Amino acid sequence: MLFSPLQAGALTLPNRILMAPLTRARADAGHMPTALMAEYYAQRASGGLLITECTLVAPNTSAFTSEPGIYSAEQVQAWKQVTAAVHAKGGRIFMQIWHPGRAAHPAMNAEPIVVSSTARAIDGDVHTPQGKLPNAVPRALAADEIPGLVASYVQGAKNAIAAGFDGVEVHGANGYLIDQFLRDGVNDRTDAYGGSLENRARFLFEVLTAVTAAIGSDRVGLRTSPLNSYNSMVDSDPIALTAFLAERLNAFHLAYWHVMRADFFQAQTGDVLPVARKHYQGVLIGNMGYSAAEATQAIQDGQLDAVAFGTGFLANPDLPARFKAGAPLNTPDASTFYTPGAAGYTDYPTL
Ligand code: PHB
Repeated sequence: MLFSPLQAGALTLPNRILMAPLTRARADAGHMPTALMAEYYAQRASGGLLITECTLVAPNTSAFTSEPGIYSAEQVQAWKQVTAAVHAKGGRIFMQIWHPGRAAHPAMNAEPIVVSSTARAIDGDVHTPQGKLPNAVPRALAADEIPGLVASYVQGAKNAIAAGFDGVEVHGANGYLIDQFLRDGVNDRTDAYGGSLENRARFLFEVLTAVTAAIGSDRVGLRTSPLNSYNSMVDSDPIALTAFLAERLNAFHLAYWHVMRADFFQAQTGDVLPVARKHYQGVLIGNMGYSAAEATQAIQDGQLDAVAFGTGFLANPDLPARFKAGAPLNTPDASTFYTPGAAGYTDYPTL
């Protein structure tokens, strides 16, 4: 099943073993993609679809210092080496377009923009070039600022297409800006963007409406993580949130919906995938902690259409070939997840 083709919007994926978005923090100053990044993604081109690391749609919103961006002409030009390298090896690649919202930090931005649905900060500290610092206190967005943010996602999507990407994945997960609207443990607004599910999803739906109009719905995916508590996220009813999104997302005719099934910290438990499958008629991708056997079973049972592998793909550039051969996997080295250079990035061996 992992090796049967899958139609995902405009793309025919040759297999259902996808590469999940992974922050690797290898971009150059100015959030510029590099030749090393092109090599890294091209090494992994046998994945059914590669999804890039989260990529900034707006300047002065950095949350990881060395993450790439897609808001400047220079970045668009530099990304072309990545898409060309992946395509030269027969691969397909979507860019994950991202606004960190309140996860942005003044220590990483010359003229910091730290905005959110709320004026409450993420708990605790964040790693910065100046050491560990408390997370920044955001400014709650005014409703009339929302169109400007939607426009940033649209420009990012258009730029991604101009850079040669096959499509974009809208990052609606993991406690970043869109998710800061979606979940009621964070969104404390009393206007049209807070309160009911309809209101909390309004920003997401405005982004999806505008981005699909700009580049075509068959080149747009969405990632959400209803259970992940990373970035101080919580929702009172993740199942209801998932069911609501599932029903409403049908109308967007997206290339896919990518659901992270669990919590990095296991603080929130449950299973959101069955309710997603029950109400969503499009291509559904599951992610987080799957073995090849479990992924095969989930696809066979009709629970999912494909599975995205994060650390598995990070450490095994030839992951599909290894799954096919039943070969052992390299172990990911967490100490090099976010460090500069080739070590732990482009030096994992193939079979
Ligand atoms: C991370 O680097 O820890 C990270 C980045 C983006 C995500 C989730 C986690 O969506």
